[in-house]
Order: sequence, then C-alpha cells, then structure tokens
Amino acid sequence: MTQLPAGTDPAELARTALAVAVEAGDLIVHDRPARLGVAETKSSRTDVVTVMDQRSQDHLLSRLGELRPDDGFAGEERGGRAGTSGITWVVDPIDGTVNYLYEIPAYCVSVAAVVGDPTRDGAWRPVAGAVVNPVTGERYSAWSGGGAWRAVGDGTPQRLRVAETDLGLALCGTGFGYDADRRAWQAALLTHVLPRVRDIRRLGSAALDLCRVAEGSLDVYYERGLNPWDMAAGWLVATEAGALVTDLDGQAPREAMTVAGAPGLHADLLALLVDGVGRVGPRSGR
Ligand code: IPD
Repeated sequence: MTQLPAGTDPAELARTALAVAVEAGDLIVHDRPARLGVAETKSSRTDVVTVMDQRSQDHLLSRLGELRPDDGFAGEERGGRAGTSGITWVVDPIDGTVNYLYEIPAYCVSVAAVVGDPTRDGAWRPVAGAVVNPVTGERYSAWSGGGAWRAVGDGTPQRLRVAETDLGLALCGTGFGYDADRRAWQAALLTHVLPRVRDIRRLGSAALDLCRVAEGSLDVYYERGLNPWDMAAGWLVATEAGALVTDLDGQAPREAMTVAGAPGLHADLLALLVDGVGRVGPRSGR
C-alpha cells in the first residue's frame, strides 16, 4: 500500500519533518562533546556510530512520537516503533557521519514521511521530507506534488529545479559503502564512469548529494548500497525538483543502485552504468 492515507496533508508532514530536523541539527552541533569518540562500529571498522547519532535519533523518535503518535518510526540507529496511521518516519539522524567525526561541514539530518513498507525494496515511497545541514544552515524540503524547496538561514525558501546538460559535461556525485568488497566493486565501476563525465565528487552524504542534484549543484548522482534512511528525503527533494530517481531497471531506487538526474541525463547515466555493471561483473560483498 503506497497511497497517502485519507485526510493526510503532505505539506503538513513536510513542515513537521523540517521542524524536527532543524531541532536535531541544532542538537548535534551544540551538544557535540569536545572529544567526540566512536561509540561503536557496525558493518565494518570504518562504519561508525557516535554518541550524537544515537542522541539525534532519540530526539527525533521522541518528538515525532509527541507530534504524530500514530505513525511508525524507522531510523539508522537503535530504536523504532510500529505505527497504525500508514505513515512511517524514516530518519537518518546524521547522514555523513564520517564528515561529522572529522568536522567536515557536509553532514545533515534527514527526515522523511513514507508510505508502504520501508523494509522492503520497491514497496514504499516518500511523501514528505526534509534535509538540514546544521552548519551551513541549508534546509531542503519537499512534499508530494508540492515541489522542492531550499532555504538558507532566515532567507525565503526558493523552489528548486534540476539542471540538464550532456553527460560529458556533467558533475557526478557518488559514494562508497563501508564493506571492503563493495568498495572494490564500486571503484571498478567508477573507472568506467570517470572518463565519461566532467568530474566526480564524493561529498560523503547521500542525502545532501540528492539535494544537490535537486538544486543543480551536482548534475547527476549514483550510488550502490544506500539504505532507506540515506535516500528517503533526498529522493523526494530530487524528484520534486524534476529529477528521475531510480534503480538500474528504472524502478524505485533500492539498495542495489540509486541513479538520479534530470530526465535526459538520467537516461544517459543509466545506460552508462548498465554497460559498466556488465563489464565489471557480478557484485560481491554487501
Ligand atoms: C553514508 C553517507 C555516504 C554514503 C554511504 C552512506 P552515513 O551514510 O550517506 O555518503 O556514501 O553509502 O552509508 O553512514 O553517514 O549515515
């Protein structure tokens, strides 16, 4: 079931997403301990969780529980909640955790309201979302049919529109997972893409990459291995700005691949990736 529940206003959900993402963003900046350490690791030694990832998620869980008690909640870190309303909040409490650890100001809080089952590839879609970079003050938001918007500081929100160019002139964002085998496969695919685009950027936050496609400060983006919390809000921001965001088969983006760009660019990048994947061979690793 991927229909918006009757009586639900996606614009209202986007306002809620933005409000709680701003709060969590303030928290991760202002309550960051002087000596931020790695609290634990997940899929590999480099897949880190800081104390602030968990605190940010706990804040989002508690605030969304107050504001929308019937909704479900699924986040990157520990803790979730089943809901009854048909809406699930899918959150990344810090997307770009490695940037956060190193104090590189390219991280964000990503909050999306989705319908369907976010634990199953292709069985869900975002209907409202917000992505907030608390260091730069950039706030992106979108809701189904309502467009994609960006505001900075106290500025008025500006409507976003993707850029169209040809692939050879396109600035292409991508990212790499934490698993060594996956990274080796991603590097092999990259050798096929890099000679055929203007250049590559690896900024370190998938949610911000997708928002950059929406505003045209990246032309295209692709990555294998995204989780729903990495992509949910950014997927909608990009789509509402006119991008196509799909997997390699043109279906909903999934763990196997996310490809984003204005329609013509998306088609060309998709063809390049399909060809590249054919040459690189079967994926190994997670
Ligand atoms: C990661 C970032 C990164 C992407 C990885 C993600 P995290 O999320 O979005 O840019 O390349 O695939 O896992 O771990 O910082 O929340």
